[in-house]
Amino acid sequence: MTTPAASRKHRFERDGFLLLEGFASRDACDALRARADELVGAFEPGPVRSVFTTHDQRRTTDEYFLSSGDRIRFFFEEGAFDEAGALVVPKARAINKIGHALHDLDPLFSAFSRTPALRALAAELGLVEPRLQQSMYIFKQPHIGGEVRCHQDGTYLYTEPLSVIGFWFALEDATLENGCMWALPGGHHAPLKSRFVRTADGGVRTDVLDPTPWPPWSEAEDGPYVPLVAPKGTLVVLHGRLPHLSGANTSAHSRHAYTLHAIDATCAYPADNWLQRSPELPSRGF
Ligand code: FE2
Repeated sequence: MTTPAASRKHRFERDGFLLLEGFASRDACDALRARADELVGAFEPGPVRSVFTTHDQRRTTDEYFLSSGDRIRFFFEEGAFDEAGALVVPKARAINKIGHALHDLDPLFSAFSRTPALRALAAELGLVEPRLQQSMYIFKQPHIGGEVRCHQDGTYLYTEPLSVIGFWFALEDATLENGCMWALPGGHHAPLKSRFVRTADGGVRTDVLDPTPWPPWSEAEDGPYVPLVAPKGTLVVLHGRLPHLSGANTSAHSRHAYTLHAIDATCAYPADNWLQRSPELPSRGF
C-alpha cells in the first residue's frame, strides 16, 4: 500500500520537485507579506544600491551581498533605476529580494519557517540534521521583475555530499503571466554543473564542474520544461540539483514568494561557499 508520505518522497525522488497546494494558510501568507512591506518601509537605501541579477556575476559580488548570509538585506531589481541611477519606481516596487537570514532574525519569518509540518516534510525527504541555511523574500515586481536563469540551488548551497532542499512558498498566485518557476523534471539525476565560491581575494567566481548546457528554455507544452504554476499557499519543494528558472514578470501583478533552503549538517559545508554565517549566528534546524 502506498501511503501519502511514501508517495510524496517517491515523486520528489522521481521528478526532483513537489507541488504541495495549500501547505501554508492564506492568512500566514498575508502576514508575511505585511511584514515584508514593513521591512521595506523601514529600509533606508544607502548611496550604494545592490542590484540582484543572474546575468552579470560581478554585480552580485559587492560586500553588501557577500556579508548578507546572516543579515536582513535588500537587493534592487535591475530595471528599477534609470541611466543616471535614480529610482524609476517607488522603493516598495523596486526591491528584487530580501536576504538571507529573515528566518533567524525576524520572529514572524522564524515561526513560518519552523512549523511541525515543514520539519516533518524535511525529515521525510531525507534531511537527518537539517540546518536552515538561507531564506529569501522574493518580490518579482510587476513589469520589472527580472528573470532568473536556469540553475541548480546546489551551485549556491553546496555540501559534500549534496544535501540542499529548497522550500519555495507562493505568497501570491504564481502564474504563467507573472513569472512562475519552470523546472526540468528529472533533471536532478544529472550532476551538479557549477559551484559559486569565494576567492582568496574576497571576490567570487563560478567553478564549472560540467560544461554541458541546459536544454534551451521554451514554454512549449511538450517540454522539456514544465511550469510550476502555484496558487497562493502552495509549497514547491526543489531538489538541490533540479534545474529551474523563472521568466521576467511583464505583467501588472507581483509574484511574491518566500524561500527557505535547508542543508544537512551531517554533510560538509565548505569554507569557500559564498554564503557564510558568523560564529555568533550559526544556522539552526527547525
Ligand atoms: Fe533556485
